[in-house]
Amino acid sequence: FSAFLTDSFGRRHSYLRISLTEKCNLRCQYCMPEEGVKLTPRAQLLTTAEVLRLARLFVHEGVDKIRLTGGEPLIRPDVLDIIAELRKLEGLKTIAVTTNGMNLARLLPKLKDSGLDLLNISLDTLIPAKFEFIVRRKGFHKVMEGIDKALEMGYNPVKVNCVVMRGLNEDEILDFVALTEKKPIEVRFIEYMPFDGNKWNFKKMVSYQEMLDCIKQQWPALEMVPTGHADTAKGYKVPGFAGKVGFISSMSDHFCGSCNRLRLTADGNLKVCLFGNSEVSLRDELRSGATETQLLDIIGAAVGRKKKQHAGMLNLSKMKNRPMILIARTRPAS
Ligand code: GTP
Ligand code: 5AD
Ligand code: SF4
Repeated sequence: FSAFLTDSFGRRHSYLRISLTEKCNLRCQYCMPEEGVKLTPRAQLLTTAEVLRLARLFVHEGVDKIRLTGGEPLIRPDVLDIIAELRKLEGLKTIAVTTNGMNLARLLPKLKDSGLDLLNISLDTLIPAKFEFIVRRKGFHKVMEGIDKALEMGYNPVKVNCVVMRGLNEDEILDFVALTEKKPIEVRFIEYMPFDGNKWNFKKMVSYQEMLDCIKQQWPALEMVPTGHADTAKGYKVPGFAGKVGFISSMSDHFCGSCNRLRLTADGNLKVCLFGNSEVSLRDELRSGATETQLLDIIGAAVGRKKKQHAGMLNLSKMKNRPMILIARTRPAS
């Protein structure tokens, strides 16, 4: 495995998350401030050719999974071409997308034809009026349609990401688990994380242990299932149910020790940790004519500076970072 992508703790970074846009057709509360975020001028965003050149370089060095994120990746007009081009890269085993599901039903046949392997869909409530409150837009039924269509087209599992926030949706945990009874859905309950402008506070965070206790009261037989070495989610299932349940415990029980991820922001910065605020611009290097070797030196140095783990929940809430929309997720501003 490439020394450039191996950090000083021996972690091999074989998973690249590429943000295709800073824009989003929703405005989720936990992802961006109500007033929106200042968007990077278009000329400073990576072009498709630049995205593909960097992807090729990372895959050559050993990246075998690429996840496209945003903003909302499916609003990038050439997302299908990007997937089709990535599909041609030898060594790239998995192409995944994390989406808010708004345009999914319409795009799915084409996404599948272009070569998309895996789909994670964000959905934080099963109540339409609450959906509008959380995402500050309409669209609940479109997302549900997207999830159903993904199942119909054979995506298995279809992962559903649910950020749990106290006082907002923690009363729906059991309803989300019930979704996994008949369908091969993997619902992942995510601990609410602090990012700039999202008004995080400790009291709003529901820990995975608390979620687990709540589910076990209803389904005492809930059992642990094995997961991959570098998975973000701890896996569980109710025996006999078609789907699974996962917990992403970034706050109460981080999983930095097995981290295998790097991120490329839409404006071309390499971010070696979701919560780290040290970034290096690969765009500037590309545009000043860097060769592959020079790029690799810069990437290798950044990976080499990656910290052992994030700073801890309470420190993170005080630290400067980008709002989530500008990192690599699936929602907010234009
Ligand atoms: P899989 O590839 O299916 O395992 O997806 P994923 O969980 O890596 O990605 P997804 O985009 O679905 O993100 C789900 C949640 O995991 C989000 O809240 C992310 O912010 C969080 N997450 C993703 N990558 C990391 C990471 O490297 N570190 C931490 N702490 N959280 C992450
Ligand atoms: N805390 C936890 N998860 C978040 N996501 C976005 N913002 C936050 C946050 N503050 C999730 C989205 C999406 C994934 C990429 O990140 O729900 O599914
Ligand atoms: Fe990796 Fe940083 Fe996430 Fe920890 S917080 S798992 S090191 S990206």
